[in-house]
Amino acid sequence: MSKKFSHDIVEKNVGLLSILIIVAISFGALVEITPLLYQDQTTEPVENLRPYTALEMEGRDVYIANGCNVCHSQMVRPFRSETERYGHYSVAGESVWEHPFLWGSKRTGPDLARVGGRYSDEWHRVHLIDPRAVVPESNMPGFPWLEDNVLTGELTSKKLQVFRNHFGVPYSDEEIANAGNDVKGKTEMDALIAYLQSLGHAMK
Ligand code: HEC
Repeated sequence: MSKKFSHDIVEKNVGLLSILIIVAISFGALVEITPLLYQDQTTEPVENLRPYTALEMEGRDVYIANGCNVCHSQMVRPFRSETERYGHYSVAGESVWEHPFLWGSKRTGPDLARVGGRYSDEWHRVHLIDPRAVVPESNMPGFPWLEDNVLTGELTSKKLQVFRNHFGVPYSDEEIANAGNDVKGKTEMDALIAYLQSLGHAMK
C-alpha cells in the first residue's frame, strides 16, 4: 500500500515529475560526458596533425559562410560501408583544433572528411563553379562568385591568434604576423580549394 502511494505522488504532481525527469536525464548526460573531459584521446592531436595554414583557415570560413556544411558531413563513421568508400573512420584526435567542428550528420552530398588529394585543384575549381560540368547528375549548386571575391587578409592574423590564445592551436608568432599577407589578393575560391585539399591530411 505505501509503495503504491509514493509512486502516486510523483505521477500526480507534474512539477515533481518534471524535476525528477530532469535529474534522470542529467545523470545520464553526466555519465556520458564527464569521462570525455578526462580522456587524452579527445584532446591529444593525432601524430601528423598540423594547424590550418592562413589560406586554409580563410577557406574554412568560406566553407561555413556558403553553407557547404549544410549538405556535407565531415565524419567517416566506423562502418565498413563508410570506410570502403571514404577511407579510415574519423578519430577525435583529428578534430582537436576544430572550432567549431563541422562533423555534421546531413549528407545531401558525400562526406568530405578525407576529400583532400582525391581530386586536382582544377577539378575542384570547375566543380565549384558548375558542378554539372564534371558530374552531370549532380544536384549541388554552383558557387561561381567565389572566383570574384578577393580576400583582403584584414582579419586573418586575428583569427589565427584567437585559435592560439583560446584553443591552444600551436601557431608561431611569425605565422600569425604573416597571415594577412599570405592570403591577401587570393580569391575565396583559392582559399576554399586549399582548405578542401587539406581535409583528412593527418590520416592518409
Ligand atoms: C544543396 C546541397 C549541397 C551544397 C550546399 C554543397 N554541396 Fe557539394 N555536393 C553535393 C552533392 C549532391 C554532391 C555529389 C555530386 C557531385 O559530385 O557534384 C556534392 C559533391 C561535392 C564534392 C565532391 C565529393 C566527392 O567525394 O566526390 C565536393 C568536393 C563538394 N561537393 C564540395 C562542396 C563545397 C566546398 C560546398 C560549398 C561551397 C558544397 N559542396 C556545397 C551537394 C551540395
